[in-house]
Amino acid sequence: MQATQIKKIVTAEKQRQNETLSLIASENIPSDETLALLSSAFETKYAEGYPGKRYYPGNKWSDEIELLAQRYARQVFNLDASWAVNVQPHSGSPANLASYLALAKPGETIIGMELSAGGHLTHGQAVSFTGKIFKSVLYGLDQSGRLDYEALEKLAKKHRPKIIISGTTSYPRVIDFARIGKIARAVQSYHVADISHLAGLVAAGIHPTPFPHADVVTTTTHKTLGGPRGAIIFAREPLGLAVNKAVFPGLQGGPHLNTIAGIAQTLFEATRPKFKIYAKQVIKNASTLAASLRAKGFKLITDGTDNHLMLINLNPRELTGEAAEKILEKNNIIANRNSIPGDTSPLHPSGLRLGTPSATRRGMREKEMILLAELIEQCLIKNKNVAAKVKILCQKFPAWPSPKKF
Ligand SMILES: Cc1ncc(COP(=O)(O)O)c(C=O)c1O
Repeated sequence: MQATQIKKIVTAEKQRQNETLSLIASENIPSDETLALLSSAFETKYAEGYPGKRYYPGNKWSDEIELLAQRYARQVFNLDASWAVNVQPHSGSPANLASYLALAKPGETIIGMELSAGGHLTHGQAVSFTGKIFKSVLYGLDQSGRLDYEALEKLAKKHRPKIIISGTTSYPRVIDFARIGKIARAVQSYHVADISHLAGLVAAGIHPTPFPHADVVTTTTHKTLGGPRGAIIFAREPLGLAVNKAVFPGLQGGPHLNTIAGIAQTLFEATRPKFKIYAKQVIKNASTLAASLRAKGFKLITDGTDNHLMLINLNPRELTGEAAEKILEKNNIIANRNSIPGDTSPLHPSGLRLGTPSATRRGMREKEMILLAELIEQCLIKNKNVAAKVKILCQKFPAWPSPKKF
C-alpha cells in the first residue's frame, strides 16, 4: 500500500505538470517504455565493476544490458570501437568530474566557460568541486553574446591547461567544436566536450558533432535526448580505461542498472527515424518562438537561436529575471531566470531562458509557439492573467500519460 501522503504529493505533481508548460531547456519527458524500465527488476541488482569483470555474482543480464546500452550509444553517435563508452555515471556532474580526474591531476589547470556566460557549475566554477580540485580558468562571450573563441585561444596559450571544456547550459548558438578542438591540440590540452544540452540534436545530425574534435565527450541523458536522469562518458581510446577507473571505483560504487536499461531504451529510440523528426521540430519550435517573441519587441541574446533554447534580455523591459520567473509561474508557464552577458549575480540575473524540448514532446508545434509568445507578452508586459488560457493549452497536450506524438 502506498502511503497516502506520498500518493497525494505524486498525484499533485503529475497534475501540476499537466496543467503547466515547462519551458525549462534542460527538462524533457521520457517515453513510457523508458519510464517502465526505471522500476524494472534491475532496480535491485548490485553490479560493481564492468561487464565481464564484476565484483558481485548474478550479473549475466546486467552485463548484457550494459553492453547493449554501450552498443546503442555508439550507433546513435556513429562511433566505432575506437571510442570507449561508459554508461554508469549517476548524472552529468559526476560524469564531468570523472572525466577530468581521468585526464588531469588535482591542482592542474582546466579551462571552462563562465557560469554567467552559459557554462555549467562543473566547468570549473569556484563553488563546484571542479573549481576547488583543479586550478580553474574561465572564458566567456564577446560583446555580441557569441562564444569568444579568440579570448579562449589567448587563455589557452597563456595557461597551457591540461583540459579545455566546451559545452554550455544556456548558449543559443551553434558551438564550433572543431575550432575548440584545434585550440586544444595547439597547446597539447585534452578537449572535453560536454554535450548535455545538445546530445539529442547531435544524435539527429542537426548540430555539428564534437566527436572528431574531442578526446572525451560527456552528456546527460535527460535533456534533448529525452531519457532518464543519467549520463554517458565517451572516451577516445586509449583513454577508456582511465575514465572507467575514475567512475568506478574512483567516484561511484554500484551502477544503477535500472537507469542503464532506461538509457538503452532511450538510445534505441534515438536511432529511430521518428527521433530525427522530433529533434527537428524542437528546433523549428524554438526558432518560431524566438521570432514571435522578437516580433512582440522582446530582445533576445544574439537576436535568436540555432538550437532548442533562447535567452530573453529583460533589461529593456525593466523586469528582473526573478520577477519574470514569478509572473510566468503564476500564469502556469515554467521558465527559469538566467544570467546574460553583463550580469554580475547568478542569483539576480536579468535574463530568462526558454527551451522547447518538453513542449515539443507533448506534441506542440509552430502554431502553439506563436500562441505562447502572445501569452508571454500578455502576462509579462500587459499584466494580464493568462493562467486559464495556458492551462487549457496544456490540457490539450498532456505530459502524462507520457505523450505518444514523439
Ligand atoms: C552542460 C551541462 N553539464 C552538466 C550538467 C549536470 O548534470 P546533472 O544535473 O545531471 O548533474 C548540466 C545540467 O544542467 C548541464 O547543463
